[in-house]
Amino acid sequence: MPSKNKEPRRGPHSPLLTIDTDNFYMEGVGREGISRAELAAQTTEIEQAQQRIKTGSKAGLDAEYAALNLALEMPTHLGQIQEMAADLRRYQDVLVTGIGGSSLGAKALQQALVPQPALTGTPRLQFVENIDPYFLHRLLSSLDAESTAVLCISKSGGTIETVVQYLILRDWLTRQLGQNTARRHQWVITDPKHGWLRELAEREGLPSLPVPPQVGGRYSVLSPVGLVPLATLGVDIGALLQGAADNALRCANADVASNPALEMAALCVLLDTRRSKRIAVMMPYVNRLQLFVDWYCQLWAESLGKWDRARPGSTPAGTLPVRAMGAVDQHSQLQMYLESRHDKFFTFIELEACEHDLPVPLDKIDVPHFPFLQGRSMAEVIDAEFRATRQVITDAGHPNMTIRLPLLNAHVLGQLIDLYQRATIYAGLLYGINPLDQPSVEIGKRLAIDYLRDTAR
Ligand code: PA5
Repeated sequence: MPSKNKEPRRGPHSPLLTIDTDNFYMEGVGREGISRAELAAQTTEIEQAQQRIKTGSKAGLDAEYAALNLALEMPTHLGQIQEMAADLRRYQDVLVTGIGGSSLGAKALQQALVPQPALTGTPRLQFVENIDPYFLHRLLSSLDAESTAVLCISKSGGTIETVVQYLILRDWLTRQLGQNTARRHQWVITDPKHGWLRELAEREGLPSLPVPPQVGGRYSVLSPVGLVPLATLGVDIGALLQGAADNALRCANADVASNPALEMAALCVLLDTRRSKRIAVMMPYVNRLQLFVDWYCQLWAESLGKWDRARPGSTPAGTLPVRAMGAVDQHSQLQMYLESRHDKFFTFIELEACEHDLPVPLDKIDVPHFPFLQGRSMAEVIDAEFRATRQVITDAGHPNMTIRLPLLNAHVLGQLIDLYQRATIYAGLLYGINPLDQPSVEIGKRLAIDYLRDTAR
């Protein structure tokens, strides 16, 4: 994939996200918030972070922050991506093997944008992610090899969970279909040059696409890693990329007042380092965003949970991301949020335009019990729940922000992805750590392999 820098242009799609950080500040939430003066005192660090991103994004897909260039670079590769997706669409079932950054993004967007794949006439796409013999056994017993394709995604091409499950799936295909036909049911997305998977793809002539080497796993949803499965499902990946590009455009300068990703990052870091807020709760009021929160948790935790011990005076960085779901967790975790320690900040996500809203059908005889439901719809009820929860969280003095989605489509999700990828990298730079690596995760991966080697039969 050649590397050039493309010019960002605003697309003619849906409106932009509304990002409301008022309750991260003292004016909104009281003394647990950040003062404008504290933020202003960070201007030099903030400008340096913006400069680092600007310089580190200069070489297209070869740039240090290549992930932030995917929205502009990938449109050139949409032909190959759509071609692979068209091949996969010929099957009834597509099994995607991959874990962490190689699955969470596509899984999240599948849930958000294609919640009922059976209705769209596209394949049933299932993620074979965690090692669980019971799950894989049940899955294979329910499938017909003739109509099943396997898409193996691994940037390194050697992640143990992915390799083991892919080997089992290959073997299953081969036993049912014979080696030659089985080969035609397999596709690969991996590093362009290195790793076992790349070697296998070359050796066996499996169709493959590259993960740009400079793009790390958890930042790769806008590369073939996320785009191929999503295109297979019929998601408008052009609109997804355009959404990301539109967000990039609104996050282009060093002034926090006009760069929401930079403002969010600076405030989150200050809430941690100045107000000891160690827990970052994300609470959407939209079922379809449950897996988006998983994606965010990986991005935030694996990128920021670091301690650069070599840097004099450094302390551990990062806030622990926690999943919550409105309104369900109002009936569970909210008690703890309101009365336990003040060590948290919150991000609420709400959806403005709710499709398929349903009126609450209230018989006259029931009105005295629920007079407040008369003439109301489900969307109005969930909106009231959200407003009430945000109010009590704010009244309890917890800093919080709200992201309002105009609607739930590919363009809006593209914006949300770019916003969080960008904010995570900014936060890493403000903490003084590298948001792109994962040294301790790598140690864990190596130790599991050592254990298997040491106990070899
Ligand atoms: O963000 C990361 O780097 C990790 O979560 C990886 O995506 C995950 O470990 C899977 O790695 P790979 O794609 O190499 O199989």
